[in-house]
Amino acid sequence: MRQRVLPSPRLEGTVVLPGDKSISHRSAILNALAQGTATVRNYSPGADCTSTLRCLRALGVRIQQEGAAPGTLVIEGANHRLQEPAQVLNCGNSGTTLRLLSGVLASQPFLSILTGDASLRSRPMARIIAPLQQMGASIQGRKGNTLPPLVIRGGPLSGIEYQMPVASAQLKSCLLLAGLLASGTTVVHELAPSRDHTEQMLRVMGARIDLRGRSAAVRASELQATDIRVPGDISAAAFWLVAAAAHPNARLRIQGVGLNPTRTGVLDVLKAMGAVITVSSGPEEGGEPTGDLVVESSELRATEISGELVPNVQDEIPVLAVAACFARGTTTIRNAEELRVKESDRIHTTVTELRHMGADIEELKDGMLIRGPVKLNGGACRGYRDHRLVMALAVAGLLAQGETVIEGGEHADVSYPGFWEQLHALTRIGQA
Ligand code: S3P
Repeated sequence: MRQRVLPSPRLEGTVVLPGDKSISHRSAILNALAQGTATVRNYSPGADCTSTLRCLRALGVRIQQEGAAPGTLVIEGANHRLQEPAQVLNCGNSGTTLRLLSGVLASQPFLSILTGDASLRSRPMARIIAPLQQMGASIQGRKGNTLPPLVIRGGPLSGIEYQMPVASAQLKSCLLLAGLLASGTTVVHELAPSRDHTEQMLRVMGARIDLRGRSAAVRASELQATDIRVPGDISAAAFWLVAAAAHPNARLRIQGVGLNPTRTGVLDVLKAMGAVITVSSGPEEGGEPTGDLVVESSELRATEISGELVPNVQDEIPVLAVAACFARGTTTIRNAEELRVKESDRIHTTVTELRHMGADIEELKDGMLIRGPVKLNGGACRGYRDHRLVMALAVAGLLAQGETVIEGGEHADVSYPGFWEQLHALTRIGQA
């Protein structure tokens, strides 16, 4: 689907966000492993989170949608006893589904095969295969144990102490989930803090987990089914934060956003760039802080994104690159090589498409340099089947002169069904 975006004289209104993608995956997987029945509300309608539900159902977990409105699920916990799936588990575009479920399936006494779409089948898996094998798992992947499909013959695991070579919440979560049924203690040490939703949810659900600085240690545990209301996705909010801050005539209110400190780097970066963002704290939901945001038109200045901040903002970097085009000075993004192995090579695809729109942007091995402010021009853009790139380009198109047409607009549905309708509601935008 080609999606047309036009600049709009005003950007105004209240944004409704989908449930947080990362927390949704975990709320389903952990409740599927727990004892008892739980209700999850505001579960993300995105295709990635639907992939997790499809796989869990194929593993024998009973999950029912409550009421007509999507988003409320009743999950009957299997108390760690999943069933051998009758077919290959298709994780679609979702790295989180494939990596987290691999950790779970490594200890289940049956055969599982996990695969996904072309993008997921090109994403690195040696990072989970090597430590799971150290724990005693039988797990193999294509191309010398580096790529999906993965074949897992579940069996007994032993805890290990593991220094993670990359700051990855998916890797950390995979190992913590494997540790839930391993003998002894499983300890993971992080290079830099990545999102900690798994640790927080395990704690709330009664797992034997110790969190100390950059280390998490888990022992074999039963989990108690726990009702969860998933907060709004701050990574989805990021598109509106940038759109409003860089727009000359904007004010947006964004309600019920998850404000876990391992995810709020985008607020810190935008504030350092001069964005006028007001944060008001709301209730805690299942160990996760939430709140409301108001963002207004702002004078933006360049910033630097590097080092330990990167894992906190990595999903937001494509749209932060759009913000940098409108900021005075040179924005530097470094130490972001992990972006090259996301749904697309996000360093290359972001630089290519923004340059095409007139950005003064340079590709670095581990990031990019962006000089601003520039006037972007609309045009024909490629979305590379990457949801976050597609939405970042939509924000660029909203702020550009003339019409932008984005190929593959439907890929926004991977994390944000309703994105285009929301854009339409806040502006006046139609479809090509
Ligand atoms: C996620 C972790 C991040 C992020 C992804 C979701 C998760 O990847 O990019 O969109 O839910 O654990 P890493 O594994 O690189 O941290």
